[in-house]
Amino acid sequence: MRKKVAIIGAGHVGECTAMYLAEKNIADIVLVDIIEDMPKGKGLDLLQTGPVRNYDVNVVGSNDFADMKGADLVVQTAGLPRKPGMTREDLITSNAKVVEDCAKEVKKHCPEAFYLIVTNPLDIMTYHAQKITGFPHNKVFGQAGILDSTRFRAFVAMELGVSMNDIQAMVLGGHGDTMVPLPNYTTVAGIPIPELIPEDRIKAISDRTRDGGGEIVKLLKTGSAYYAPAAAVAEMVDAVLSDRKRLFPCSAYCAGEYGIKDIYIGVPIILGAGGVERIIELKLNKEDLGSLQKSAATYKDWLKVLGY
Ligand code: LAC
Repeated sequence: MRKKVAIIGAGHVGECTAMYLAEKNIADIVLVDIIEDMPKGKGLDLLQTGPVRNYDVNVVGSNDFADMKGADLVVQTAGLPRKPGMTREDLITSNAKVVEDCAKEVKKHCPEAFYLIVTNPLDIMTYHAQKITGFPHNKVFGQAGILDSTRFRAFVAMELGVSMNDIQAMVLGGHGDTMVPLPNYTTVAGIPIPELIPEDRIKAISDRTRDGGGEIVKLLKTGSAYYAPAAAVAEMVDAVLSDRKRLFPCSAYCAGEYGIKDIYIGVPIILGAGGVERIIELKLNKEDLGSLQKSAATYKDWLKVLGY
C-alpha cells in the first residue's frame, strides 16, 4: 500500500513541503489546516499539477484532523512565524499551544506515525510534541540541521565560486543564535574548508549561517523562509519512508550523547525506516563541543518556560 504523509499547517512551509514531496512520488499527502477551505484549494491545485510534473500521488487538503488517519508520518508546520526583530524563542508560548493542540490530534488519529516538527522554536517544540504524544523518542524529531547546513553550503559555494553540489557541511546545535557550524567537517569534494578559505572569512560565513533565517525574515518583512525549510523536510520524509539511512544533522533526543541529557538538539543522526536510528558521536574539538553543550544548556533553560 502507498505510504501517507499528513502535513499540519497549509502555510508557506506546509504547501512547499507538499509540493516537494509530491514530486518525489513516494506518498499520498493530506494537507490539514483550520482555515476554512484554504487547504482544500491548495490540495486541489497541487493534485492538478501532477500530470505536468509527472507525479501520480494523491494530494488533498482538509479542515478535519481525522483525515490524517493512517498517516505513516506527520509533519508539524502550523504555528506563527517570526516578524522582523523577533528571535525564534519569542514564539515559545504562542506556538507551544498550537503544537499541543495538534499533537493531541496526532496521538488520537495516527498513534503509530513518525512526527516531524518544524514549528519554531523547533528544538523546544520537538521536546514538547514528544511529551504531549508520549511517542518513542526515535519517532519524534525536528528539522533544522539540514536547513542550516544547506545555508552554510550555499555560502561556502558563493565564497569560493564553486558548485554547491560539491559542498558538504555539518551544522549542529539548536536552530537559533547558538547553532554550531563545523568548518572542520565542511568540505568541498572532500577538502576541508579551512584549507581553502581564510579564518576570518569562515567566521563571517558561519555568522551569516547562524543568522540565515533572520536575514530572510528582515527581507520578507511578513514571515520567514519557506523554500529551503520545506526542501529540508522533504529530504527527511524521504529518508524515513524510503529507509534511506541518510546521515543528516537533525533535532534528536539526546540521552547522554555529547554529554547532553534529556533535550532535543541538532546532532548528526542516521535517519531511516526506524526514524532516528542512531546518533553519530563525532570526536569534536574542545571548542566545538563546548559550543554544542552551551547551546543545549540554553535550550534546557528555555524548556523551563513550558514547565519542563
Ligand atoms: C528559518 C526559520 C524557518 O531558519 O526557522 O528560516
